[in-house]
Amino acid sequence: MSAQRGRVGPLVAGTDAAPELDVDALLADRDVGIIVCCGSGGVGKTTTSAALALRAAEQGRKVVVLTIDPARRLAQSMGIEELDNVPRPVPGLDEDGAGSLDAMMLDMKRTFDDVVESQATPEKAAQILQNPFYIALSSSFAGTQEYMAMEKLGQLHADARRTGRWDLIVVDTPPSRSALDFLDAPERLSSFLDGRFIRLLLAPARGPARLMSAGLGAVTNALTKVLGAQVLRDMQTFVAAFDTLFGGFRQRAQRTFELLQAEGTAFLVVAAPEPDALREAAYFVERLNEERMPLAGLVVNRASHAPAGGLSAERALAAAERLEETDGTGAASATAGLTAGLLRLHAHRTRIVARESRLQERFSTAHPDVPKAVVPALSTDVHDLDGLRLVGDLLSQRS
Ligand SMILES: Nc1ncnc2c1ncn2[C@@H]1O[C@H](COP(=O)(O)OP(=O)(O)OP(=O)(O)O)[C@@H](O)[C@H]1O
Ligand SMILES: [Mg+2]
Repeated sequence: MSAQRGRVGPLVAGTDAAPELDVDALLADRDVGIIVCCGSGGVGKTTTSAALALRAAEQGRKVVVLTIDPARRLAQSMGIEELDNVPRPVPGLDEDGAGSLDAMMLDMKRTFDDVVESQATPEKAAQILQNPFYIALSSSFAGTQEYMAMEKLGQLHADARRTGRWDLIVVDTPPSRSALDFLDAPERLSSFLDGRFIRLLLAPARGPARLMSAGLGAVTNALTKVLGAQVLRDMQTFVAAFDTLFGGFRQRAQRTFELLQAEGTAFLVVAAPEPDALREAAYFVERLNEERMPLAGLVVNRASHAPAGGLSAERALAAAERLEETDGTGAASATAGLTAGLLRLHAHRTRIVARESRLQERFSTAHPDVPKAVVPALSTDVHDLDGLRLVGDLLSQRS
């Protein structure tokens, strides 16, 4: 990556010099085979992924979009209500072009089960799949969703290569608090499974007898007291069974990580025009640089509209105050009150827009090479193909 990692400097007022993100050029680029939408919680990752996928398909690409926990109505409109981990054609696509769109919703547990089944002998897989610790880990461990999203991406990529069914994979990422979780979680899960606590549990199950030192025996005894003998046995069986698979897991995660670093991958960082989301986006951009992962740009989603007219916030407030001071009576006073209220609203909105532009400028000053697209806040949420088309249009609109 050519982008220099700049330090976040003091707030610099002035024009926002960020280069524009050319979304249609990105979607048309046949060398780009994977687009990953990252960002902190609730900023619009799922919406952006679905909108990009639809737009790319209607422009002639053969697309599959991997969504994670889409809102119910959006899932319905894309025909992916069923959580069966299989990409399905999205109904209602504009059929003119040569493109196609398949969509799927990640089933974390099923993806995990598939990996276990593909790695272990049938007996061993069955043993792992019914172990209560495996069930807990595969359905709820923090980070499992991120790990499995990467796993699924790897599988889709392999399928695309083998069958030629897709030439573009658009990936949504899990609703983590931090955008970085997507990159960090697989490693965290690996270290958990590799960790000392697990080793300790594992030792009595398979280690030579001499490992059963007095100290370890005491730990095991204490754990047996706390957890109960059956629980401890389950845990040890799970760890022992999982341990043999584990090398495979690490390798798979490593391969997907390499896929994310490849030339044909493009990351988009989605952020709301708010301090926390933009700060997260900045961390993420820096991290992508460190990992040598290709960043295509920043999407600022749900930006506020500038109110019409050139009236400044200060003048609107001054006018509101003057109106309120006027000691009128009856209808004239009511009108003045209403007008003052509207002037205050205007001032408030003008200030929000100014604040959002300052935040965006701050980001662009620190990361001047990162192209940007801005999508305004729509009056309703985005829950059908028309809504997605509109977001797609807005994403690719150039000023
Ligand atoms: N530009 C927009 N205008 C209006 N509503 C929007 C816009 N973008 C997204 N939304 C709505 O905001 C909500 C959150 O969007 P979305 O689910 O895409 O976010 P997310 O980043 O995927 O969230 P999570 O982190 O929970 O997965 C949805 O209801 C969506 O319809
Ligand atoms: Mg989402």
